[in-house]
Amino acid sequence: MKFDILTLFPGLFETFRREGILGRAVQQDLVTIDVHDLRRWSGNRWGQVDDEPYGGGAGMVLQAPPVLEAVNEIVSTGDDPPVTVVLSPRGRVFDQAFADELRQKGRLLLLCGRYEGFDERVSEILRPVELSLGDFILGGGEVPAMAVIETVSRLVPGVVGDPQSVVEDSFTNQLLDYPCYTRPAEVEGRTVPEVLRSGNHAKIRRWRLERSVEATVTRRPDLIKKSWGNYPKEIRKLIRRYDPDLAESLE
Ligand SMILES: C[S@@+](CC[C@H](N)C(=O)[O-])C[C@H]1O[C@@H](n2cnc3c(N)ncnc32)[C@H](O)[C@@H]1O
Repeated sequence: MKFDILTLFPGLFETFRREGILGRAVQQDLVTIDVHDLRRWSGNRWGQVDDEPYGGGAGMVLQAPPVLEAVNEIVSTGDDPPVTVVLSPRGRVFDQAFADELRQKGRLLLLCGRYEGFDERVSEILRPVELSLGDFILGGGEVPAMAVIETVSRLVPGVVGDPQSVVEDSFTNQLLDYPCYTRPAEVEGRTVPEVLRSGNHAKIRRWRLERSVEATVTRRPDLIKKSWGNYPKEIRKLIRRYDPDLAESLE
């Protein structure tokens, strides 16, 4: 999987791409991350790439020409042209299914906005995928780009040591994750559920599934509504047990 990032703050990605699971994936060439400084394409000696908005108002807007030139040059490098992704609060909200789709593209070019964002003609001309991290406003597209890179990279075979942990993650099964415990067995009088220490794998699996469904029903009924049609029988039965009204409204 290859990521190209176009940003005004390339330094933000230096530690990010060296540490942890992602750092190891980069070292093993499972993931490639190339960071490009938008100011390289400014066309002036001050490196300026923004200007005042037409029509007035607060803030500055990133100009289209340097972005378009940068994208043209980056797209022409390497064998597979990337899918261009603009990080924008106006985009489709990122989730695990979206990450899965992006993983299948193989190469992504992530455009990180700053200030008031990009001149609209960047989107009109490039017709990119527009991706939002959620309904809030960050100062720039770099943090959303990092969220995309981490999430998509975890789906690349070999990046996460134990593939089972990716399968069991929250959202992969359209359920929240079950609670986890580790040593010590007792903390401030609170003990680990007995079943987890029983060694009975069938019972442990069942307990974890029940806790996953229970957590999703109570914390994220919206997820249950969205995914009802995709749940297997066993899960629907548990949903009926934890919230019969919710289940009835979806039958
Ligand atoms: C301060 S924001 C611009 C906000 C813009 N004026 C608006 O209200 O939509 C600057 C940049 O941060 C990034 N950004 C901010 N919030 C984001 C979000 N929720 N998802 C994705 N990108 C975001 C985008 O790249 C955006 O161009």
